[in-house]
Amino acid sequence: MKQILMTGVGAYLPETILTNDDLSKFVDTDDNWIRQRTGIISRRKANPEELTSDLAVKAANQALLSSGLNVLDIDCIIVATTTPDCTFPATATIVQEKLGALNAFAFDVQAVCAGFVYALSVANGLMSAGQGSNTLVIGAETFTKLLDWRDRSTCVLFGDGAGAVVLQAEKSEEGYGIIANTLHSDGRYKDILYVDGGVSSTGTIGHVKMQGRDVFKHAVEKLAAAMDEVLHISNLTSDDIDWLVPHQANIRIINAMQKKLNLPDEKVIKTVSHHANTSAASIPLALTSGVESGKIKSGHLLALEAIGGGLSWGASLVRYGRPV
Ligand code: ACO
Repeated sequence: MKQILMTGVGAYLPETILTNDDLSKFVDTDDNWIRQRTGIISRRKANPEELTSDLAVKAANQALLSSGLNVLDIDCIIVATTTPDCTFPATATIVQEKLGALNAFAFDVQAVCAGFVYALSVANGLMSAGQGSNTLVIGAETFTKLLDWRDRSTCVLFGDGAGAVVLQAEKSEEGYGIIANTLHSDGRYKDILYVDGGVSSTGTIGHVKMQGRDVFKHAVEKLAAAMDEVLHISNLTSDDIDWLVPHQANIRIINAMQKKLNLPDEKVIKTVSHHANTSAASIPLALTSGVESGKIKSGHLLALEAIGGGLSWGASLVRYGRPV
């Protein structure tokens, strides 16, 4: 039986930084409100000519370097995004062409902020069934292009970026790689977080609309239940977790999860202060930050969780790297 190992990570953030003070120059908000309610200090913003696929390619190239694989070794590319370059083809095929990954099949996954955990689980299923030995899973977003910059209740929350991981199917020690996943959706809550545009409805792109308080309440409750579920099916407890690498939407949601799992600060990767909510990119961006800073090491047990529009949510347990 092959394990699905996570052998490389990479990330890319656009150069332009927008601070809370920058936002307060054109929308009625202030640094103190944003920091207190969300933990966000600044976010990155892609330039108009910078596409989601451009961000994805930069993150993917770094992940390839970190895994030691050649681009032609990649046989599957999955891009989790809500901000594709165009309605079709899939951004993943554009990424494939830009990377020169000509031996890969490629497709997108759309689960908004839960996109990365969804894509990871899809990759795990495909690879376990023998489709794909070396898969690139990328979360990439130019989410700022979906924002109404006059709506202070949403425009302060999001940022742009991309993160990528390399997964390799290999015979390996039990308990390494992807250990467990759980995915959930509840479309009854589709109206608390959505975009008011689309191809078959308005014919426009639309803007993000959100009932923040409702999303907050569901986030804490549903993420905690999903994490309990993956720990339970793996016969593990929160004491076994080396790093919680949560979706970075709001520091208060992250702190609530940390408390529920009874984890000290030293076991939680927090990047929301300078990334803001980058939707599907947030977990692989946080993962890369954890690995590059030397916190996450080979053999560490990672707990990943995310929730987003749908509502859709999920959690994964992954033992990072390879056995030495
Ligand atoms: N600056 C200043 N004031 C603001 C701002 C702002 N940017 N935004 C809202 N306010 C005001 C409101 O108008 C309201 O004023 P009022 O009392 O005079 O009516 C007041 O602040 C309180 O507004 P609430 O929305 O009740 O504030 P809350 O404490 O709930 O914080 C927030 C809002 C930060 C959005 C919070 O609800 C939240 O984080 N929710 C979760 C949202 C989230 O994480 N979404 C993403 C997850 S899913 C995904 O990742 C796509």
